[in-house]
Order: sequence, then C-alpha cells, then structure tokens
Amino acid sequence: MRYSKISGIGHHVPETIITNEYLSTIMDTNDAWITERTGIKERRWINPDKDTVANMAAKASRMALQRAGLTEKDVEFIVFATITSDYYFPGSGVLLQRELGLEGIGALDIKNACSGFIYALSIADQFIKSGMYKTILVVGAEIQSSALDVSDRGRNTAVIFGDGAGAVVLRPSDKPGILSTHLHADGRFAEELYVKDPGGSRPNKERQPEQILDTSGFKVHMNGNQVFKHAVVRFMEVINEALAANNMKKEDIDLLVPHQANLRISQYIQEKLSLRDDQVYNNIMRYGNTTAASIPIAMSEAWAEGKIKENDVICLAAFGSGFTWASALIRW
Ligand code: UT7
Repeated sequence: MRYSKISGIGHHVPETIITNEYLSTIMDTNDAWITERTGIKERRWINPDKDTVANMAAKASRMALQRAGLTEKDVEFIVFATITSDYYFPGSGVLLQRELGLEGIGALDIKNACSGFIYALSIADQFIKSGMYKTILVVGAEIQSSALDVSDRGRNTAVIFGDGAGAVVLRPSDKPGILSTHLHADGRFAEELYVKDPGGSRPNKERQPEQILDTSGFKVHMNGNQVFKHAVVRFMEVINEALAANNMKKEDIDLLVPHQANLRISQYIQEKLSLRDDQVYNNIMRYGNTTAASIPIAMSEAWAEGKIKENDVICLAAFGSGFTWASALIRW
C-alpha cells in the first residue's frame, strides 16, 4: 500500500509588523478590544514594492524543499491554496511555478479560504496515493492587507487578517503519514463571509462608474457573530470525525494545529477536547488570521520549535468562508 507523508515544511512572513497600537492610530480601535476578542497582538503586512503571493510562496516552498533534502527540480506538481491570488486570473499556482523555474509541471489553484490548505493537502494526498506523482508542493499563501478597509467602517475585519505563506512537500511512503482528510462545505452561508466584487454574476453596467474604477469595492464582508457560532460547532465535529475514522480518541492527539481564526475559538476547542496547553499550537498573537496560510505557517513554526516529532499524531482543523470546514489526521 502506498501512502503519502509530509517530508518538509516551511513558511515565510513579510517583514513589516503591524501592532494593535499602530492600528489604533489609523482607525477607531484599541489593543484591549483586539486582544480580548481575538488574542491578536500583531500581524504582518506586505511591502507592495517587493512582496507578492507567489514570491512569498516560493520562499516558503524553498524552505520546505531544503528541510526535505530536495531541490526545486524534484517537484512534479503544485497545489496552491489562496483566496488572494496576485491576479484575478490566472491563479498564483502558475506564478509560483515560474518563480521556481518549473516550466511544464501542472499547477492547481484552490479557493477554499481558511479550509483551503487542508483541501489542497487532501488532493495532493490522493495524487501521491494513486501513484500519479511522487513529489508535490502544497502551498497556502495570502496577501489580505491590500483588501482590508482600514477606515473605522472596516475595523471588524481589518484588525484580524494578516499576510504570509506556508508550504509542505508531500512524498510517497510505505507507512501511513496522512491518515485521513475530511472535507465539508455549506454554501447556504456563502454571504456570511465574502468579497462580492469583482464577481462575474454582475455585469459592469450594474455598477456605478466610480465602483468599477474604485478598488475599495474589493472589501471583505464578515458577519463575525454568525461565523464564530458555526466555527465552534464545525471545528469540534470535523475533529471528532477524523478521530473516529482512525479509531482514535482525543487523548491520542499529540498536537492540534487549528486554523488561526481567533484565539477564543482555539481555546474553546482545547477546553472541549480537554487538551493541555502543549497539545495545541497557536501563533495568532503574532500573525493574525492568514486564511489558507495559517495552518502551514503554524505547523512550520511548531516543527522548528521541536513540538512536532517523528511518529506524533498531528490533527489539523479549519473553518471559514463558504462555509467550508475540514480536518486532517497525520502521523508525522
Ligand atoms: O477565518 C475565517 C473565520 N473567521 C472567524 O472565525 C471569525 C469569527 N468571529 C470573530 O472572531 C468575532 O466575531 C470578531 C472578533 C470578528 C468580533 O468579535 P465579537 O465579540 O463577535 O464582536 P461584535 O462583532 O459583536 O462587536 C462588538 C462591538 C461592537 O460595538 P457595539 O455595537 O457593541 O457598540 C462593534 O462595533 O465591538 C465593536 N467593534 C470594535 N471595537 C473596537 C468591532 N470591531 C472593533 C474593533 N475595535 N476593531
């Protein structure tokens, strides 16, 4: 039986640190509100003169390849999760392929928001298990700072989101690495967390001329309360689904790496699963919510800090726009 295994992991975040204190100088917010409601203390925002989704992804990918003892030339396929591709189309997968000098290999883009990395991992897992590819780069990368409304009106989302990239290298193994993945969606809630424009369903003539030209139309709308309520339920469901599928109990989890949406959500899951602090990895304090990049950045940091060891059982779980939610159980 052929399985897939993560053989290297890396991440990259932009240099510029945006603190809660700085945000409170440009909009009506404050450190106490942000810390209490979300746990975030700072996040990274790109420098538009040098950072792109694809070049941050390339830096994360090179780190992952180097840690796997491989080079760019070994990569046979790219699965790229992002909702903030550098261009409206094509997706950033082909741009990463170009950055890495891998002309000709396939590149697939995934647009499943916060669950995007687990969806991408699941697809790559199937390609490895089927024998179609031997080395796949699975990437999550986002630049969200450019779409945030940093006026008072946008403060409920502007303080939450950040930029960054993470990547893993997936390779075949004769022992199970990715034990199972579980993917879900419920499109009835699409408009609870979405960016409406540029959307194909409304012809330009329905928009006012200033909306066509004004890129501030590209704004995140989030019904935070609704998202929060659904998130806590779905996170628990999808983690329990992963455990049940592998005949495991919550005590078997060595490290839970939840999508970094809100520290309160992570703490709620931790309490429900009765996990110790050292069994849950959080870095939302430093990076905010980086959507598809959040899980691979967190996994990469946890690995570098020695918190992920050979044979450990790692549980990934995510919830976000769509709504989509997903989990993966991994034997490292
Ligand atoms: O990764 C995708 C998934 N996303 C999530 O999982 C996000 C889930 N939702 C959340 O994390 C929370 O709903 C938020 C952190 C977004 C908001 O927290 P909340 O406790 O749900 O606050 P709220 O939206 O109910 O707002 C409470 C108050 C409001 O004022 P009033 O109406 O009570 O006077 C807001 O206007 O807080 C106000 N507020 C702010 N105040 C200071 C909203 N944003 C801010 C802000 N600074 N940045």
